[in-house]
Amino acid sequence: MSARPVGRPVPAEGLDGTYSQSWFPLCLSTELPPGQVLGVDFLGGRVAVFRGAAGGPARVVSGYCAHLGADLSVGHVEGEHLRCRYHGWRYDGSGACTSTGTGEPVPPRARLFSFPSRESHGIVWAFNGRRPLFDVPGLPVPPDELLLRHTVLDEAPVDPWLVAAQTMDVQHFLLQHGFALDDGDDPNDAVTATAHSMGYPLRLTTPDGQRLDLRVEIHGTSVFRQTGTLDGRWFCWLTALRSIRPGVSRPYFVLGARRAEGGADPAADEAFLDDEAFLDRAMGVMMGMLADDAPVLLTLHFRPGLLTRSDRALGRYLEYLRRYPRADPGCGEISRDAPG
Ligand code: FES
Ligand SMILES: [Fe+2]
Repeated sequence: MSARPVGRPVPAEGLDGTYSQSWFPLCLSTELPPGQVLGVDFLGGRVAVFRGAAGGPARVVSGYCAHLGADLSVGHVEGEHLRCRYHGWRYDGSGACTSTGTGEPVPPRARLFSFPSRESHGIVWAFNGRRPLFDVPGLPVPPDELLLRHTVLDEAPVDPWLVAAQTMDVQHFLLQHGFALDDGDDPNDAVTATAHSMGYPLRLTTPDGQRLDLRVEIHGTSVFRQTGTLDGRWFCWLTALRSIRPGVSRPYFVLGARRAEGGADPAADEAFLDDEAFLDRAMGVMMGMLADDAPVLLTLHFRPGLLTRSDRALGRYLEYLRRYPRADPGCGEISRDAPG
């Protein structure tokens, strides 16, 4: 029996202790009210996510205390500081220890790693690196005009980049989902890329006759953004996955529509769908795609095997992944002997 031919491998998340320098979703904004701290498993370790009592920005710091390693998520927020439950060391939003419980001087190197963080689309995000290489992708509609719906799934046995690879797998839209691409369209010829993103226009008809006219993009290795129309009405979809540990991630979905788009009058237009009904419909399309993909994605032993001409976009994405910058969680500053 001959060995299965494979191309050069794509580095798995966690290989040699490094992960993609990308944005990852940590929690929903609604899970982090003012004065709250949460512990989140992230990049093979743990982070504490907290918000000061005054309701300012979400802060993301390494999850174990610099003193003896207590899990800071069992501590408390006091004012704008995070206080360790064990011996009362206090940390500010930059991760600096500002006081000890006894009042003794703070040891000079007592600090936590502070991950770059953002809050957008109802999600708290962290970047794996000292400084973000790009920003969380935005949406082309002002937040006050958007109606968003969030869905968070359980942990899945897959790295984020492999879920994102579906987007660049043009064949699977036809063969797995049964979509018909517009005549003459081959997304393989329309891919554009930057150092930290890749995307293309995707125009298709679903098996039940719904029209999708989209732009689909991967940002970093862990964020998928789709904008465009379903039967002429604008909607957007984000899939973002948090790398929890090697081979395991947690998916966050954001579905959005414009409120009462176009001033349509339900009484005058029988085809008009109200906002919630339209979101239900778009959700049905996206969840239908997920249902098609899940049996394969959750059991796939991915190797870049023998690619064909229709895999040009996928091949380009695999090369992007091979070159993608990676870093230790906390850039080596998180104590290696801390728990997790
Ligand atoms: S372990 Fe946190 S203050 Fe001692
Ligand atoms: Fe798919």
